[in-house]
Amino acid sequence: MTERVEIFEVGPRDGLQNEKRAIATVDKVALVDCLSRAGFSRIEVASFVSPKWVPQMADSAEVLAGIQRAKGVRYAALTPNMRGFDGAIAAEADEIAVFASASEGFSKANINATIAESFERFAPILQAARQVDMPVRGYVSCVTDCPYDGAIEPSAVAQVAGTLFDAGCYEVSLGDTIGQALPERLDAMLAAVLEVIPASNLAGHYHDTTGRALDNIVVSLSRGLRVFDAAVGGLGGCPYAPGAAGNVATEAVHDRLSGLGYETGLDPNILREAAVIARAMRAGDANV
Ligand code: HMG
Ligand code: MG
Repeated sequence: MTERVEIFEVGPRDGLQNEKRAIATVDKVALVDCLSRAGFSRIEVASFVSPKWVPQMADSAEVLAGIQRAKGVRYAALTPNMRGFDGAIAAEADEIAVFASASEGFSKANINATIAESFERFAPILQAARQVDMPVRGYVSCVTDCPYDGAIEPSAVAQVAGTLFDAGCYEVSLGDTIGQALPERLDAMLAAVLEVIPASNLAGHYHDTTGRALDNIVVSLSRGLRVFDAAVGGLGGCPYAPGAAGNVATEAVHDRLSGLGYETGLDPNILREAAVIARAMRAGDANV
């Protein structure tokens, strides 16, 4: 039987959060509605963060209200604090994500908190989520390289990832936030994280700045990871990570995985359709 690998679509969040110009809510909804037909189980569509920090995500509640929810798809949202959690609950997100960093420099730049302070903020979110059976995913940014602190030790990543997992995150997504990871350094990081979290609870989240994301996915597959985040059309970046390019493109990951004999369950024709919509948004001429 063909082995399954899941692609977690993050384009409507990680992709669009970084677009310079405002994108109309109706265009975001059209992109998500297209993606909902492609066969994903999880799509990250919203981010309940401060609109002063990330204005592009200010219409997250409207996006969640406007999309046609497909059966079997979980629509996810980022929540940095309890205010974000309340927003996600009110908007009926199906799952949420807290986001930490393996480096102090990025933690401070991205969420204005030390790593330790970020865990103090996440604790009540995880507790409240447990009470309403809301699944919580955890992100770790800068798993090999940080735009502020430079090279990151694998042990630092294992520490932060393990803390998220022990706190109740059902899956921890490992972010090469600025797309600089060399495959051998990524492999060393995975070896350290796998000491504390099983491969079945990990995901790879690789930005493609230097064109190594697909190679890093192959390295991760050989370490047993079977979930990868990607953004259709290669949308994205992070506004607080200078130099971060888009996430690896969903359609490229699908093609590579298929070539390696894995099954993604995705419809390549619909992915192509969504990539056209996404690229038009990036080019600034979205009229979808
Ligand atoms: P702060 O300034 O330290 O906190 O920001 P604050 O509590 O003083 O709040 C500042 C203002 O934001 C206040 O408004 C709050 O009310 C408001 P004011 O009183 O000035 O009018 N506020 C909020 N508004 C809406 N929703 C909220 C919320 N919280 C506060 N939830 C804070 C701290 C965490 C809020 C801020 O730093 C922030 O929003 N950061 C988010 C940055 C972000 O979204 N980055 C991108 C996502 S992470 C990423 O892309 C990486 C990832 O893809 C993985 C990878 O690639 O590595 C996940
Ligand atoms: Mg990212």
